[in-house]
Amino acid sequence: MPSSLIAPIPTSTSFEQAAGISLATMAVAIAFYHTIGYGMTPPWSTGGEKVGKGKSMVILGGASSVGQYAVQLAKLSGFEKIVTNSGVENIEMVKALGADIVLDRKVSGAREFVEAVGEMEVAFVFDAISAPSTQRLGVEILQAVEKRSADSCLVTLHTVHPDHPDPEAVKLGLKEGKENANGKVEIRQVLGLGSQKDLRYLSEPLMGALGGEEGWIAKRKFVPNRVRLVEGGLGSVDEALELNRKGVSGVKVVVRPWDGEWVGGVWVFI
Ligand SMILES: NC(=O)c1ccc[n+]([C@@H]2O[C@H](COP(=O)([O-])OP(=O)(O)OC[C@H]3O[C@@H](n4cnc5c(N)ncnc54)[C@H](OP(=O)(O)O)[C@@H]3O)[C@@H](O)[C@H]2O)c1
Repeated sequence: MPSSLIAPIPTSTSFEQAAGISLATMAVAIAFYHTIGYGMTPPWSTGGEKVGKGKSMVILGGASSVGQYAVQLAKLSGFEKIVTNSGVENIEMVKALGADIVLDRKVSGAREFVEAVGEMEVAFVFDAISAPSTQRLGVEILQAVEKRSADSCLVTLHTVHPDHPDPEAVKLGLKEGKENANGKVEIRQVLGLGSQKDLRYLSEPLMGALGGEEGWIAKRKFVPNRVRLVEGGLGSVDEALELNRKGVSGVKVVVRPWDGEWVGGVWVFI
């Protein structure tokens, strides 16, 4: 790993918490700040902490690993209203990260999002889940909100799903006229590979802003995901993958590549 892409872990943060930050945060940073996503000025550049002034952002899946970081970067970008959804048991956790309204995802559809946003202009919808159903929901929200920015779009993540973006969501987004007074909805896809040369202008300052004793993490402006540690070292990778496959809620699954304990400033290997 090139040294410009790593950052010192603040003393307040464990190795396990730190392990879950880079990939998911990078995906959000590209979605928000690169032109393949929405293309805003990032919060570490002049004026970037105010780009969301007077605007709202909709984030689908605020309790997911990516979603938790999206809520926090939206806050750091100065969005006045962050509307998202999660399971009921995670609503308070997502609010504590900076979301203004967290809808119960089991019972809320486009109508509830539109009501939650109200009269505030929606800059864009970020789909932190990027399943076919959430992509369709993202398009429906943008088609129904009262006000949306001229450059608004739905930003999704590349997933392992073979049909991406979802063909139904694309078709829905092309509707115009009476069926969709707000006009077409463009769907953009991003991939969070921060080591790629053309993304370094984002990934390097992002790591600088996050890490060290003066960074966002140390100052509690950016909170790492809660960790679900799978014990057992490298031998437990299959178990951890199975856990992810079954689905986790509001946590990041972490495997320590060795089995040991951090005691008095040194690793004690078992
Ligand atoms: N392209 C990239 O660079 C990149 C990078 C990282 C991740 N990803 C992709 O992004 C997606 C999310 O990854 P992740 O690691 O953040 O996931 P994750 O944390 O494992 O997601 C689980 C969480 O998603 C929430 N959730 C599940 N279905 C939902 C739905 N229909 N609506 C709203 N929330 C829902 C659940 O919320 P509740 O428990 O509260 O119900 C759960 O807490 C995956 O497809 C992953 O492959 C892409």
